[in-house]
Amino acid sequence: MSLLADDFAYLRQRVLRRSGLVLEPDMHALVETRLMSLLREERLPDISALVARLRSQPESSPLHQRLAEALANHETAFFRDAPVFDALRSTVLPALLAKRSRTRTLRIWCAACAYGQEPYSIAMTLAEAGLLITGWTVRILATDFSTRALVRASEARYDAQEIHRGLTPELRQRYFHPERDGWRLNEQVRRPVELRPLNLMDDFPPEAPVDLVFLRNVMIYWDVPTRRAVLARVRRMLHADGYLVLGAAEASPLVEDGFTRHLIGQTSWYRPTPAPHASASAPVEDAPRPPRSGARP
Ligand SMILES: C[S@@+](CC[C@H](N)C(=O)[O-])C[C@H]1O[C@@H](n2cnc3c(N)ncnc32)[C@H](O)[C@@H]1O
Repeated sequence: MSLLADDFAYLRQRVLRRSGLVLEPDMHALVETRLMSLLREERLPDISALVARLRSQPESSPLHQRLAEALANHETAFFRDAPVFDALRSTVLPALLAKRSRTRTLRIWCAACAYGQEPYSIAMTLAEAGLLITGWTVRILATDFSTRALVRASEARYDAQEIHRGLTPELRQRYFHPERDGWRLNEQVRRPVELRPLNLMDDFPPEAPVDLVFLRNVMIYWDVPTRRAVLARVRRMLHADGYLVLGAAEASPLVEDGFTRHLIGQTSWYRPTPAPHASASAPVEDAPRPPRSGARP
């Protein structure tokens, strides 16, 4: 199968709009590989036939969504980039718990959660800290634009290969039980995780500010204007004293995007830079936010 330049250009432009993914000119082979199962499912002989079918359908059609999902990278693992979880445990979580001791409420947003390993790793970290049983209200909103990924995440069942990636035998023993050919996460750790579809290309007005955002290993595939636009929206959704963490390969100063970088151990965490006119003594805990309109994530 060889990918025609016109077809590649069409796919590139569609996917950029749909998911932000930038298909580079040297990604022909990757595109061909990733589209193979979509071709099979649609019973199409080649990519030109797929492009013809896509052209005949509105951009809002399910086929366009499936195209973007098929081309996305869904690679993930439990406790991916372990130093991030070390810093969460040792520094970020204690700092947030101190700030939220009055409301005893913690809201976390995992913004591209793939098959669930990331939000469930956060939930296990909270469980290990005793937070799931001590009267705190903890909510982990886990979103992804891929409905297929979310279906898998909601099953919370992982095969032998997945379960061995990043998870210690102790944590597997404590939080999973064998089910069919794999391991299923226990209800206690699934409960605080709420899965929802959300495309980061869309505007996403918050229902309430969140304390912590995991936005890892998704911006890496975007161009700079897209990163900027999404970071601006993330900043609006983050508490003034909250934290943002990116993927290891995505670390950047982000200064011009309104964040200040804090090094914790070997990892970078970002906190909203106070606006110049903000009073230094203004309380930040649970500060009220103006009501917003529009669709909720
Ligand atoms: C490489 S995985 C990263 C998963 C997890 N954050 C981690 O670091 O292990 C990237 C995820 O981003 C999702 N994604 C890609 N573009 C997206 C978009 N525009 N909006 C929301 N999710 C997106 C993909 O579906 C995929 O599940």
